[in-house]
Amino acid sequence: MKREDIERIAAELNELKCKTQKEVEEARIRFLGKKGEVTRLFEEFRALDKDLKREFGKTLNDLKQMVTNRIEEMKDSVGGEVAEEGPKQDLSMPGDPYELGSRHPVSIVRQQIVDIFRKFGYDVAEGPEIEDDYHVFEALNFPANHPARDMQDTFFVSAGHLNPLLLRTHTSSVQVRTMEKMPLPIRVVCPGRVFRNEAISARAHCIFHQIEGLYIDENVTFADLKQALLLFAREMFGPDTQIRMRPSYFPFTEPSTEVDVSCNICHGKGCNVCKGTGWLEILGAGMVDPNVLEASGIDSKKYSGFAFGMGLERIAMLKWQVNDLRHYFENDMRFLGEFRTAPEV
Ligand code: PHE
Repeated sequence: MKREDIERIAAELNELKCKTQKEVEEARIRFLGKKGEVTRLFEEFRALDKDLKREFGKTLNDLKQMVTNRIEEMKDSVGGEVAEEGPKQDLSMPGDPYELGSRHPVSIVRQQIVDIFRKFGYDVAEGPEIEDDYHVFEALNFPANHPARDMQDTFFVSAGHLNPLLLRTHTSSVQVRTMEKMPLPIRVVCPGRVFRNEAISARAHCIFHQIEGLYIDENVTFADLKQALLLFAREMFGPDTQIRMRPSYFPFTEPSTEVDVSCNICHGKGCNVCKGTGWLEILGAGMVDPNVLEASGIDSKKYSGFAFGMGLERIAMLKWQVNDLRHYFENDMRFLGEFRTAPEV
């Protein structure tokens, strides 16, 4: 036995670099296995005489301890089976990026409209999508035989009794619920999903979204309605926007009007979007019919009010010139991704 042998093994051990468990095991066999180098030194040690035994004993034991520790250490620090066969892991490689979501265009428009009316002092009210006939029609002055109650337009959930359940066809039902429970004066906007039994096409869908507004106080006049809508249109479509009111009919408002805004694409010159007219129809409105106020227990001699309602998909279509309503419901990432950079979210 030579001191150099011990020193050589110690040096080799220092140099030793194992990358896999397999290599660690090979190193263990090489040093500590039955025919391993350290084992061999112990065999030689047995044959030494007493003096030499005294000289080498401790050094040899230290060497064995060192080798054992080092092998254990490497066992713990070297990666498992994956590293053995698979490609080397590059820890500096960037991870898979998350797909960033974006707001749905209908949500963007709803938020813009709600924000505008919040500035005017309106609250937001919501109501159920499955409603009863009373809140969708009866309390809103729909005569018993009004065509809007026809099965053609309305999805009934339960039929055959006096107050059937149905999917609301407009958010005006939320007006009724608000008038029933909120103290006066009332100033609310009611955004929500509505349902109509329509064949699905580029211009019609059986599901869409509305936002409805209601203002009730003493001395509310048609001039207030006109001013509120003008301010809204200018906030929404730009400061030069004009509005135009055409007479119309809704059972729950009297007088009733349909409101157009000047086309913000051609600025009144006439284009494809406004079909050459210079105007875009955006909402229905009117003074709340006294019958509607009375049905919800509001004194129509003391109070008056106005209401308006608009379709969110329609506004979004005008804003971004989307020509097919179906895009809003199909969850096509190519379409939805277009709104990733949309402002004011
Ligand atoms: N509820 C009407 C509709 O769905 C819109 C509207 C609301 C009209 C309020 C006048 C006043 O078409």
